[in-house]
Amino acid sequence: MNYELKEGFGSKIGAVLASAGSAVGLGNVWRFPTEVGNNGGAAFIFIYLICIAVIGIPVMMSEFVIGRHTRTNTISAFAKLAPGKWWRIEGVAGVFVAFLILSYYIVISGWTLFYLVESLGGQLQAGRDYSQVFNDFVSNPWQPVLMGAAFMGLTHFIIARGVQSGIEKSSKVMMPMLLLIIGILVVCSFSMPGSSEGLRFLLKPDFSKITASVILSAVGQAFFSLSLAMGCLCTYASYFRADTKLPKTAVGVSTIDTFVAILSGFIIFPAVFSVEGVSVDAGPGLVFITLPHVFNIAFSHLPWLGYIFSSFFYLLLLLAALTSAISLHESVTAYMLEAFSISRRKAAAAVSISCMTLGVACSLSFGVWSDLTLFGLNIFGLFDFTASKIILPIGGIIICLFTGWYLDRKLVESELTNCGTLRFRLFRLYYFIIRYVAPLAIAAVFVQELLA
Ligand code: TRP
Repeated sequence: MNYELKEGFGSKIGAVLASAGSAVGLGNVWRFPTEVGNNGGAAFIFIYLICIAVIGIPVMMSEFVIGRHTRTNTISAFAKLAPGKWWRIEGVAGVFVAFLILSYYIVISGWTLFYLVESLGGQLQAGRDYSQVFNDFVSNPWQPVLMGAAFMGLTHFIIARGVQSGIEKSSKVMMPMLLLIIGILVVCSFSMPGSSEGLRFLLKPDFSKITASVILSAVGQAFFSLSLAMGCLCTYASYFRADTKLPKTAVGVSTIDTFVAILSGFIIFPAVFSVEGVSVDAGPGLVFITLPHVFNIAFSHLPWLGYIFSSFFYLLLLLAALTSAISLHESVTAYMLEAFSISRRKAAAAVSISCMTLGVACSLSFGVWSDLTLFGLNIFGLFDFTASKIILPIGGIIICLFTGWYLDRKLVESELTNCGTLRFRLFRLYYFIIRYVAPLAIAAVFVQELLA
């Protein structure tokens, strides 16, 4: 493939910000604090950091190797590296699962958009029964669908503009904005009375809380949060320049992602602890039911501050969701575009429309179609289960085995050192992890989650 003919990221910082945009998502701002709440606070964070460093970064480097070496979409990348071999299925699974995840990711993203609009309109400050607000909204047949469609429209618009003027440019605006908003919210949250309780929860590890299942949840969360095992980052790496340093980029992206996750904890827990009688482990309702309630009570004397806090918070969630949705969309669009030789606009439209169709079904499964279940899961739950609990871990194991055992060691080393022009002292450690440690650890998560 002629690298010069293919559009790629124009700069190294663009590559880092776009990949960080993929990683930083609902998983950081919503899922991470929930996991921390459920798994004993600081002890979970401690284990999570080890998972990121020991497993997350090496697996991310492997995806970068596959993507940049082949400079093509995920399906063609595996087909090119392993012509006629079973390994190719991994590429197909990656693109398929990105499609599946996008179709339910837009549903939650649509909720986020709704909450932002409500907050800006002053509706969240009205002291309502937030659990009813939430339930009425998600079970409404058309409102969440419209919100999801609006969100899909935004994603589509950026993808249709292309790699440099769409993905790269938007990441360069949205990521700094996101980091700035986080900074503002952390300061706001720390200044709330009673916030020190929340800080203590986040900073004081109770090691007796660490059990096998806590460790396994941490591995799972690290994978989801870093956008691993699905070819999203392979696709982005195919746009990296020849002089982009892969190990350094992987460390940079993982650092930003982890930083955002932990700071989200620093926003949510001090706020939640500042209001008596609210429990931290409120689960998925945390950001849509507990937080509006907390904002309302905590800022009852300063409603304008509550208004700013909640509006910024949902804007943060929306930006995070958007940059991740873009990466999921691009994985599929890149394949359509190259495989069928159609224009980017057409490929993007095909992906947006078909994903949105599935998205409608996911959205309705919270309302009129809630009785439609399989193995006790509604459509949304079924998609999430298949993608994140089955295809994702298997994909993770395959990527490790593929890079560690199938690919030529020289190819991997040459890609990580930019053809030997860089030094990468930890290569042997990386190679050991990718061959033994990471696949075994992921296999353990997989088995545990299936049994749970
Ligand atoms: N990492 C994103 C988040 O934290 C979600 C995401 C985007 C993802 N692309 C992915 C997860 C690929 C797994 C694989 O919300």
